[in-house]
Amino acid sequence: MAQQEGAKKREVWSGRSVFIMAAIGSAVGLGNIWRFPYIAYENGGGAFLIPYLVALLTAGLPLLFVDYAIGHKFRGSPPLAFRRLARRAEFLGWWQVLVCFVIGVYYAVIIAWAARYTFFSLSEAWGDDAEGFFLESFLQVDGDSSFGMSFVPGVAWPLLAVWILTLGVLALGVQRGIGNANRFFVPLLVILFGALVVRALTLEGATVGLDAFFTPNWSALTDTSVWIAAYAQIFFSLSVAFGIMITYSSYLKRKTNLTGSGLVVGFSNSSFEVLAGIGVFSALGFMAQAQGVAVDEVVAGGIGLAFIAFPTIVSEMPGGPIFGVLFFGSLVFAGFTSLISIIQVAVSAFEDKTGLGRVPAVLTIGGVSAIVSLLLFPTTTGLNTLDVVDRFANQFGIVGVAFVALIVVAWMLRRLPDLRDHLNSVSSFKVGKGWLLFTGGVTPIVLGYMLFSEIRDRLAEGYGGLPDDLVVVFGWGVQAAVIVAAVALSFVPWRKSIDLSYDLSDDLPATTGTSGTTDPDPVTVPSGGTK
Ligand code: ALA
Repeated sequence: MAQQEGAKKREVWSGRSVFIMAAIGSAVGLGNIWRFPYIAYENGGGAFLIPYLVALLTAGLPLLFVDYAIGHKFRGSPPLAFRRLARRAEFLGWWQVLVCFVIGVYYAVIIAWAARYTFFSLSEAWGDDAEGFFLESFLQVDGDSSFGMSFVPGVAWPLLAVWILTLGVLALGVQRGIGNANRFFVPLLVILFGALVVRALTLEGATVGLDAFFTPNWSALTDTSVWIAAYAQIFFSLSVAFGIMITYSSYLKRKTNLTGSGLVVGFSNSSFEVLAGIGVFSALGFMAQAQGVAVDEVVAGGIGLAFIAFPTIVSEMPGGPIFGVLFFGSLVFAGFTSLISIIQVAVSAFEDKTGLGRVPAVLTIGGVSAIVSLLLFPTTTGLNTLDVVDRFANQFGIVGVAFVALIVVAWMLRRLPDLRDHLNSVSSFKVGKGWLLFTGGVTPIVLGYMLFSEIRDRLAEGYGGLPDDLVVVFGWGVQAAVIVAAVALSFVPWRKSIDLSYDLSDDLPATTGTSGTTDPDPVTVPSGGTK
């Protein structure tokens, strides 16, 4: 049996539906709206759906199940869960925590931009020059320096508001804060974005955009980079392998259908992504038609799509301001529920390690995140800094930690069969040899290749023509610091009252196997013991 608990109980979701909503809220984020449509278009259009679906089935869902199994079985934030899995694995948890910290500090900035643009839409504040307005008037970009501390108040104050709201939700706790926020914001996002897609589909030229988006380029399927793009999109988009799903599943009741929940989350996320492609390309088709050019001349992704192409569309279409509010409002809500999940990883790790209560943990870790974010990004050089940090966090941080974690768990510790048994003991959809093959074989190979090619290319080419000092400090430097700090944190002693050998499987009745969601005794769900 599990060790007797200390005074501190681990929080729990009130039910499986709240967890599913929160996991969808985390998965559906900026990546779905501004990244997927562009990546799909660039990598074969309609044909991209094949590698995308393959990546979802062979890596996305299997890895999501790994995260769920680790979080649920070992009931902890990533460092605690990995520590309980094996002493040597703790650093993996801290690596994930720090990757989340790095992503969180810039992710919040994009939400702050989108929040301001929701209001700018009402008056079409960018006039007839969306690009000039974004770069010069709004961000006040300084093209001559690599790094400077000249503040841009127009970005700083909405960013401060984003942080206050995020920390406010986290301070309320797992169920009352995160659970309720997702129960409210996820349906709201679906309504807003659904309205946007309907309006976009009725625009003149929408079909031209959809043709461009869906027309398959079958030859793309023979290109390795297209397959890599599909896997990269799935990892970021599903929020797998960077600690979020371990954290969220650690608050589940003892008997919860893990794989069934994962299937709902995975397919909801991908459906939203395809919906985003339809909405975005209908709008781009309208823009191309209005300007009398081909779709490939107006197509954009990421920041360029959201803050330059969309404002232009808003200016050109009838009823533009409402369309702008729907688009930027959707970005804000999608981003906000993802940001909550990203920062929660660090907060929960800090709580577990130190035993601090939720509010002090939120104020400390959340406060540090907010300060770093407010110091680095609302500046005249913030855009370039964000670009570099984002690239390295995604292509090196997430991919790197996912690769090393799978090698350690599958090959060095050989714990996949244990995790499989745990999944099967509580879930309706059973996993078997295929799952072992994908998580222990296919995915590490794909991840290893992605990591290797990214390191090779960045060393050879730098990044995006940006100054080397920026790339060295905020790219390589930050990622190296993250790894060193992760190892160092794994040597910091745990609070005395925690049970470092806790394993939920010891605590489950012998005859399990259920699709039920009820826990006969949720109050005793532990966070640690008195060992
Ligand atoms: N999964 C989140 C996104 O897509 C992080 O933006």
